[in-house]
Amino acid sequence: MKKRVLSGIQPSGKLHLGNMIGALNNWVNLQNEFDCFFFIADLHALTTSYADTSGLKDFSFQAAIDMVSVGLDPDKCTMFRQSDLPEHSEMHLLLSMIVPLPWLERVPTYKGQIDELKGKDLGTYGFLGYPVLQAADILIYKADFVPVGSDQLPHIELTREIARRFNNLYGNVFPEPAAKLTQIPLLPGLDGRKMSKSYGNTIAISDNKDTIRKKIESMITDPARVKKIDQGHPDVCNVFSYYKIFAPQNISALETKCKNAQLGCVECKQAFSDILIRFLSPIQEKRADLASNPENIKKILDLGSIKAKESAGLTLEETKKAMRLI
Ligand code: TRP
Repeated sequence: MKKRVLSGIQPSGKLHLGNMIGALNNWVNLQNEFDCFFFIADLHALTTSYADTSGLKDFSFQAAIDMVSVGLDPDKCTMFRQSDLPEHSEMHLLLSMIVPLPWLERVPTYKGQIDELKGKDLGTYGFLGYPVLQAADILIYKADFVPVGSDQLPHIELTREIARRFNNLYGNVFPEPAAKLTQIPLLPGLDGRKMSKSYGNTIAISDNKDTIRKKIESMITDPARVKKIDQGHPDVCNVFSYYKIFAPQNISALETKCKNAQLGCVECKQAFSDILIRFLSPIQEKRADLASNPENIKKILDLGSIKAKESAGLTLEETKKAMRLI
């Protein structure tokens, strides 16, 4: 039997290159080898965006289009939207009964996000429970592996602790999942920080050519390099880190040219824009095709949620029996 893999992504607008490099491309590989469940975590998006939910439904839809455009195949993996399965919410509620508050208060993303998203009131019950909902997502499918970035490791560890506590209290229901870290280096945002919608430093998978060129042009390169005749330091240049990911085959030639002041930053950025535009072109073609047939995407998500429901329903029943609710 194939091992089970599960992961989710928050629909915070159109998905971006950070999502693609950090998560989606990895998922595309995993779908060939494992029994994969990949979902759009729209309830998780609610925990920070509850005050304005006007875009949420469309964001989930766009995320589904992006997922298929980059190569997720609904025939190979189970793809669905979290809120289409009330089982996740019910599992979240049941697990919430046994999670001690201090476990949640010491999760690093809790205080971290509150500091980062200062304009939002995150002193809510739902936001504190974010990792419990994530544990419910994972445990309800009895996932063996959870592919995530390193920032999510505390959530996986907490999931394991919740599983252990549940099993001790009510009997063995949940296996402990393991994180599966991506090997690919992180793609920084346009300003060098983590690429994130909330920092406004993203390139969307669906950005058009002009937008891509403008965004790349705006990137800061080596601050010590003012004129083309100054020698460059590729190791501190953000554009260079993009080259490493999207054009690794040319990397040493580029490094030499930059260090010897044979290539200016403007030219270097233009060349990179060309590379990125060429890279995204087949993905965007597929995207346009999918976007013009919204019924197809809806069908993919409907079928995905039927498949997901089979597993989720079984585990939920087992959980309620263990707790002697039924
Ligand atoms: N918290 C994850 C993130 O922001 C998204 C997520 C929600 C998730 N539920 C999950 C990831 C379950 C893995 C498994 O990236």
